[in-house]
Amino acid sequence: MTHPTPYYRRLAATPEIEIVLDGTSLRVPADAPVLPSLMALGIEAWSGRNRQAQPLCLMGACFQCTAVVDGRPGQRLCRTPARQGMSIGSEQADG
Ligand code: FES
Repeated sequence: MTHPTPYYRRLAATPEIEIVLDGTSLRVPADAPVLPSLMALGIEAWSGRNRQAQPLCLMGACFQCTAVVDGRPGQRLCRTPARQGMSIGSEQADG
């Protein structure tokens, strides 16, 4: 697949590692923020707190991309670098 922007083309050229998203193994670029890598794979929804919300800022300000990462809730996927074996999963909704 040819990616539309230089950023995604650079991601595609980075060595890949394996992460687990909602129980599904995925290969993503090492050390790149998780969210743009998921978007490059066409994944736009996961079991984060704001399941209906879409990430807005991609820079850590809106908190629309939070999920549980390796057991820690409230992690912003746009600010979290991908690490080998990282597990991303559900987060309970507020209220
Ligand atoms: S997309 Fe806004 S904080 Fe992650």
